Amino acid sequence: MSISQIGRSIKASPTLALNEKAAILRQKGDPVIHLGGGEPKSKAPLDAIVAAAAHLNSGEIRYAPADGIPDLKKAIIRYTEENYGRLVAPENVMASGGAKQAIMVALQAIVNPQEEVIFPSPYWVSYPDMVKLCGGIPVPVVPEDGTFYPRIEDIEQRIGSYTKAIIINSPNNPSGAMYSEEFIAAVVELCEKRDIYLIMDDIYHKLIFDGKKQINPLKYAKKPLEESNMILINGVSKAYAMTGFRIGWAVANRKLIEVMTNIQGHQTSGPSVLLQKAAVGALNGIQSGIENLRVTLENNRNIMMARLKSFNGVHVTVPDGTFYCLADFSNYEKSSQKLSAMLIDKVQVLTVPGVEFGMEGHLRLSYCGSVKDITEGIERMKWALDPNSPNELYIGDRKLVRDWS
Ligand SMILES: Cc1ncc(COP(=O)(O)O)c(C=O)c1O
Repeated sequence: MSISQIGRSIKASPTLALNEKAAILRQKGDPVIHLGGGEPKSKAPLDAIVAAAAHLNSGEIRYAPADGIPDLKKAIIRYTEENYGRLVAPENVMASGGAKQAIMVALQAIVNPQEEVIFPSPYWVSYPDMVKLCGGIPVPVVPEDGTFYPRIEDIEQRIGSYTKAIIINSPNNPSGAMYSEEFIAAVVELCEKRDIYLIMDDIYHKLIFDGKKQINPLKYAKKPLEESNMILINGVSKAYAMTGFRIGWAVANRKLIEVMTNIQGHQTSGPSVLLQKAAVGALNGIQSGIENLRVTLENNRNIMMARLKSFNGVHVTVPDGTFYCLADFSNYEKSSQKLSAMLIDKVQVLTVPGVEFGMEGHLRLSYCGSVKDITEGIERMKWALDPNSPNELYIGDRKLVRDWS
C-alpha cells in the first residue's frame, strides 16, 4: 500500500487516543481516572440546546454558506466587538468545524511547502502536525530561561527568510501560562514589522485566574484590519463547554477570509448548520455559565496545586488559566511516555506525556474533572511513585499491591 509522504509524517493525536483508551478501560469496568482530558465537564448551555433543537424540529437541515450562517457571523461580530473592541464585517469572519479547523484552514491559506511556522514550546499537540499537513516546517521555540514564558528575543532569534507565521496560544495548552501583556504587544509589533502572519489562538482567553484580565492583541495592532496579518482564532468548545459541537472561527482581513472560505468550501462545505445554530444560542444566550466554569476551574487548580506540593521532587508552575498544568516529574522518570504508561498500567490514572508538547520529563494533568477525580488521581499517582508509600492501596474494593520500586 502506498501512502503519501505527508500522510506518513502525521501522527495520531495523542490526546484523542487517550480519550479512546479511557473509554475502552471504562467499558472493561476499570476504575479509570482521566487526568488527561481537554474538556470541561459542565453541560452545554441550555440556550445552545434549545436553538439546535428548534432547528432540528424544522426537519429542514440543509447546506449552508461555507463561511458560516449569517446569524452565527452576527454573533461572532458581537463577540469580537465585546472582547476585542473592534467592529468587524461579516466578510472578516469564517466559522469552522472547531478552532482546530479554523487554524488548519488558515495555515493552508498562508503556508507554502518548506516555509516555517514558529510557536513557543510547550505547544498544543496539533500545531506541528498541522504545519506538516501544509508541507511546512514547524519551528518550536523553547524559552531560553527554562520557564513557560517566552521572551520576544526567543522568538526573534528564530525568524528567518522562510518564516511565514507565528502561532501564539495564551493562556497556553499545556502549561496554563498566560503570557505577559508586554510580550503580546511585542509579538504583534514584530509580526507587523517583519510582515509575518500572527495566528492568535485565543481559545482559553476567558478561562483565567487570580483576577487576571484578558489581553487584547488587537489593541497593539497599528495596521487597519484589512492590511493586518493577524488571524484571531476562537470558538465555543472550552468556555461554553461545547467541545462536541465542533464550532470555532477565524477573524482576519477579507482577502484572507475569502481564500480560507474557498479552501473550507472544498473540504467540508462549512460546519453543520445545526451546530452553528447551537453556537448562536450559546453566544447570544445567558453568559453566566462561563464565570461559573472559570470559578470552578480556579478552585480545581488550587486543589491540584496543593496536592502536587505534597509530592517530593515534582516541580510545577502554577497555571494562570486553562484547565491544565504541566508538571515536571523527571526526578521520578525521565521518559514521560514510560511514566504515563506506568501510571495507566499500575493505578489506572491517565495523563498526557509532556514529550507530546515538546516538554520531556513532564506530564500534562487536567483539572477540568471533579474534585474527587483530582484528589484521588493525584493520591494514586503518589502511591505509585513514592517508594515510601505503603505496600497496598484500595481502589473501591480492589486491592493494589506494590510490586515495583
Ligand atoms: C490550544 C488549542 N487550540 C485549539 C483547540 C481546538 O479547539 P476546538 O475544539 O474548537 O477545535 C484546542 C483544543 O484542545 C486547544 O487546546
